[in-house]
Amino acid sequence: ATTPAFDMVFFGGTGDLALRKLIPSLYQAHKAGALNDDGRIVALGRKAFGLQGYLALLEERVRPRLGVDYDELTWSSFIKRLHYQTLDAGNLPDFESLAALLGSDHGRVTVCYLATAPQLFIPICRQLAAIGLNHPNARVVLEKPLGHDLESSNAINAAVGQWFEENQIYRIDHYLGKESVQNLMAVRFGNTLFEPLWRREWIDNVQITIAEELGVEERGEFYDRTGALRDMLQSHLLQLLCIVAMEPPASLSEDAIRDEKLKVLKSLKPFTPEDVLSKTVRGQYRSGAIKGMPVAGYRDEHKVAPDSNTETFVAMQAEVSNWRWAGVPFFLRTGKRMQERVAEIVINFRDVPHALFPMPIGLHSANRLVIRLQPKESVRLYFLAKEPGDAMNLQSTYLNLDFHTMFQARWADAYERLLLDVIRGRLALFMRRDEQAEAWCWVEPILACWAQHAIAPKTYTAGSWGPAASSGLLSRAGIVWHEES
Ligand code: BG6
Repeated sequence: ATTPAFDMVFFGGTGDLALRKLIPSLYQAHKAGALNDDGRIVALGRKAFGLQGYLALLEERVRPRLGVDYDELTWSSFIKRLHYQTLDAGNLPDFESLAALLGSDHGRVTVCYLATAPQLFIPICRQLAAIGLNHPNARVVLEKPLGHDLESSNAINAAVGQWFEENQIYRIDHYLGKESVQNLMAVRFGNTLFEPLWRREWIDNVQITIAEELGVEERGEFYDRTGALRDMLQSHLLQLLCIVAMEPPASLSEDAIRDEKLKVLKSLKPFTPEDVLSKTVRGQYRSGAIKGMPVAGYRDEHKVAPDSNTETFVAMQAEVSNWRWAGVPFFLRTGKRMQERVAEIVINFRDVPHALFPMPIGLHSANRLVIRLQPKESVRLYFLAKEPGDAMNLQSTYLNLDFHTMFQARWADAYERLLLDVIRGRLALFMRRDEQAEAWCWVEPILACWAQHAIAPKTYTAGSWGPAASSGLLSRAGIVWHEES
């Protein structure tokens, strides 16, 4: 079924996110026939491009991204949906022109997607309210990072909350829109097999990795103020942790799921300063090579301070202090300019109680479940089997569910799914205000301790798996990070 009629308004319509993700995702949805014919896309930016200028920008920046999905007919029907307006966030008359363009039909879904710096969220929402664009069918999407810390995020939430009801606010974390994250819920709650084992009695440790090959690209200015803890861990990694650790929700309703995620965030054991010093690792890449191509160090990146101490890597050992998980370490790590682009969740089960067979050398857990989010979505269940032959030699082997082989269907990008969810008014995959606040609360002491002790990041070579201290975190527990190609 197609969406209801809509207006999708992109603040930051000429920015990186709009050109890399938002417009291409809508093109894909259009091509798949998911968008209502009566659906307009309004891009806003400070530059006085005019529609023709904007379309030229899309030709140059968006079209090549579409690859084999581009076709002229679809493209020309897609761009008929587009409008472009010049808008300065501080200028009320610009908002009045926007209101005039959108018209006074308040029965129509209007989505205002704020793909801008978070400092603009409050002024933009104030102006939207001033022109009546907070009517019951209006929705506002807030891109991450939602603020810089607990205080600034609270300030944004409080201000936006004056003008929009909570069910009109969509705080996006695109990791929740990834197909494999949905699948993790299916694996856990659609099968009887795993749930009885999904607890401290059977699970030794959990590892969540989001490694990127990319550096900071053109985002040096933003990134240097932000760092990996705020950019990735506070949001994406904690959301993944929630889905791994949460109790089965009573239904798939938005609040049933979000209530359970909130409980996990509230159960995260707060870090004392000693914990921060012993259980977190900050890293920063120096020059190196990615797949044989030399790349610059972080401090030489465009718009990064030459003496920057911002972390481009973070690893830590967290704990969910509740009945199900007490004592099970959750190892989290994320970094830029790592050896490989990979995002995965690894559940390491405990060893058998009595070892009849010698374990293969270097193997730390006979049974592990590896849920790979990207690049190639798969679920692998590792177990030991006997090697053919006289000797009783065991080998690690796995059952592999490769989603792309199993399901030949088209895979929607996370943003495509989430944009459609906003138009349809589905909030389940968006963060609620209390979740957001809780996640910031938990990372605050880490930020504070790093700042107080002026903890400089440890350097790692671009193209490696991060600083040695990251392996050190696990080796204390006698384990290693799961790494394989
Ligand atoms: C964004 C971060 O939220 O996620 C980026 O701001 C990061 O720094 C990106 O590169 C990673 O997303 P994905 O979907 O490419 O893994």
